[in-house]
Amino acid sequence: MSKKILITGASGLVGSHLTDMLQQQGYQVVHVGRTKRAGKISTFVWDVNAGTFDVQALAGVDTIINLAGAGIADKRWSTSRKREILESRTKSVALLNKVLSTTSHQVTTFVSASAIGYYGFGFGDEVFTEDTKPGTDFLANVTKQWEEEMDKIQQLSIRVVKLRIGIVLSDKGGALTEMAKPVRMFAGSPLGSGKQNLSWIHIEDLGAMFLKAATDETLRGAYSAVSGNWVSNKEITKAIGKVLNRPVWPVHVPAFVLKLMLGEMANIVLQGSKVTADKIKQTGFEFKYTTLEAALKSLRL
Ligand SMILES: NC(=O)c1ccc[n+]([C@@H]2O[C@H](COP(=O)([O-])OP(=O)(O)OC[C@H]3O[C@@H](n4cnc5c(N)ncnc54)[C@H](OP(=O)(O)O)[C@@H]3O)[C@@H](O)[C@H]2O)c1
Repeated sequence: MSKKILITGASGLVGSHLTDMLQQQGYQVVHVGRTKRAGKISTFVWDVNAGTFDVQALAGVDTIINLAGAGIADKRWSTSRKREILESRTKSVALLNKVLSTTSHQVTTFVSASAIGYYGFGFGDEVFTEDTKPGTDFLANVTKQWEEEMDKIQQLSIRVVKLRIGIVLSDKGGALTEMAKPVRMFAGSPLGSGKQNLSWIHIEDLGAMFLKAATDETLRGAYSAVSGNWVSNKEITKAIGKVLNRPVWPVHVPAFVLKLMLGEMANIVLQGSKVTADKIKQTGFEFKYTTLEAALKSLRL
């Protein structure tokens, strides 16, 4: 019998792709989200702050894929927004844990989004692996606390896989869409020094990795979900210019301007990290897109 997979935060960039991919491959999918949406997929409602969850969502489900979390780059990081970024992640996993501890169910596998932000920002030749200690900046602290909640679910004898996702390349939204906007308007320039590294993954490879995590029982714990072929901000800006047939100007957008515009959030564009994909490759996972050129060519920018 095919698996029945429950996805939280499924209305977002990754969840929409994953839902289509899983359905095309014959999996049954149900969604849990903040609002009930009309459509082909059954949607059940939860309220993470109020701690409520419609337990009917669990009927026949053997795998949960958790993607829920307030968008990191959607709004300026005020104190209350930072709390929302953290608690929308920690409280949602804690709520799933509570529901799984107190309700009868058949769930054997819990796969969750995490982020390479766990490692913090890297400098020079430093390459992050799954054994790297967590960083100390805001996003690293969020991700560490998010993963600590995921780890607690293992105590229910449920297999837990944490995918530390890099920058997802998609033509349906996310970082690439934002990076392409100024380039398309003939205003493309590297940001800050332009040397900060971007550890990216194509959305199709990420979807395939979630499926592997859901179905391959040998996977447990944390895996970096990146292509392993990081590029600098300058390189990706130039590559987008090439695909869009637009110039990229040699004048960099100064870091102080971005800091004035974005506040502390500017760190996510001014800093980066080199993250290896060796651990997921060792499980036999094969990437479809390993070069930035091939990844960008496959997308409609
Ligand atoms: N895209 C990337 O480049 C990237 C990189 C690293 C990590 N990740 C992580 O991967 C996950 C999925 O990414 P994504 O790009 O698909 O994110 P997304 O497009 O922002 O979608 C996340 C979903 O989470 C739910 N959500 C939003 N605010 C919430 C809140 N306050 N409380 C509970 N749920 C909330 C929403 O679903 P409903 O409206 O259906 O409830 C939303 O569609 C996220 O947790 C993200 O942090 C993404």
